[in-house]
Amino acid sequence: MKRHYLVTGGAGFIGSHVASRLLRAGHRVTVLDNFSTGSRANLDAVRTEVGRRASELKVVEGSVTDARAVATAFDGIAGVVHLAALPSVVRSVEAPLESHDHNVTGTVQVLDAARRCGVRVVYAGSSSAYGEQDAQLKHEELRESPLSPYAASKLAGELYARAFGRVYDASVVVTRFFNVYGPRQVPDSPYSGVVAAFCFALLRGAQPRIDGDGSQTRDFTYVGDVAEGVARALEADLAPGCHTVNLAGGGNYSIRELLATLTRHAGADVEPVFGPARAGDVKHSQADVSRLRALLGYVPSTSFDAGLRATFDWYRQTYGETAATERGAGDRQN
Ligand SMILES: NC(=O)c1ccc[n+]([C@@H]2O[C@H](COP(=O)([O-])OP(=O)(O)OC[C@H]3O[C@@H](n4cnc5c(N)ncnc54)[C@H](O)[C@@H]3O)[C@@H](O)[C@H]2O)c1
Repeated sequence: MKRHYLVTGGAGFIGSHVASRLLRAGHRVTVLDNFSTGSRANLDAVRTEVGRRASELKVVEGSVTDARAVATAFDGIAGVVHLAALPSVVRSVEAPLESHDHNVTGTVQVLDAARRCGVRVVYAGSSSAYGEQDAQLKHEELRESPLSPYAASKLAGELYARAFGRVYDASVVVTRFFNVYGPRQVPDSPYSGVVAAFCFALLRGAQPRIDGDGSQTRDFTYVGDVAEGVARALEADLAPGCHTVNLAGGGNYSIRELLATLTRHAGADVEPVFGPARAGDVKHSQADVSRLRALLGYVPSTSFDAGLRATFDWYRQTYGETAATERGAGDRQN
């Protein structure tokens, strides 16, 4: 059935892929975004991807912390993908109250509007909720152990989701994302994800910076797979209440392996520089995906190599010329 869905944070990296996936399936989409880290360029890219269906995309500019903006965005919708947040560990260490406001207060606003309308929320949970664990695989029954204000804020959103499930029988699916990467991730901010930052450095001929010794491992998940999982969570036939599920491929790659793979795709020959390990970072992060398979009948399948190739190609197309110019300017200064 064709429906009208709300995507909060839809102008962001993951949100723009979710909006695109829903529009391509024939749904209407409203995006609620305050454009703090997201961009209009991402929405233009969505319009290009969906072609004639672009007219089915509506944009409400505003904050999820603002009840009036939320009420406007909820008009006529059948479900919500709630992604709006300040998604940075580093930024949360610098400004924990700011993270709390966007990530927790914003989430309560969205959950409250959704339970009043009786529509499902798919909430972007985070693997950071697990923190360090003895178990190699992070499964949903582990006791959470957030290590940063960001992780605490994302977990607080989950706790509200669980409480709303219990008290109001609200329908919520908490999808815990692991390290999501792919086209449209901002590459040149101090808060950038590692895949985007490495791609950008390689294109500029700069040395990629590894925080710590690079042996830390991550469950890198391609953004198209995340969008697919989220769309399934939105439409799955589930019992009322809150369901919490990892949304990742279940792989395990070190930062050094990541850099080696991207370096190969770039045809580059560079040595990284090493910096101190970052406060609030975990050593290993790998998802147990058995619940995902059971609940949604889906597990991300884009291989590490194919996902990184597609991602690097996108950065090359998008930033290649700028990076080459910067490189040229740098050469002239020397
Ligand atoms: N990228 C990852 O690896 C990852 C991993 C785990 C969880 N997540 C979660 O996924 C979600 C999306 O992350 P992303 O990587 O796409 O980041 P992003 O910064 O690209 O997207 C976040 C979007 O939310 C918007 N936003 C921020 N505060 C807002 C507010 N108060 N009101 C309205 N819009 C607001 C931003 O403008 C942006 O468009 C976040 O909730 C994040 O915590 C991401």
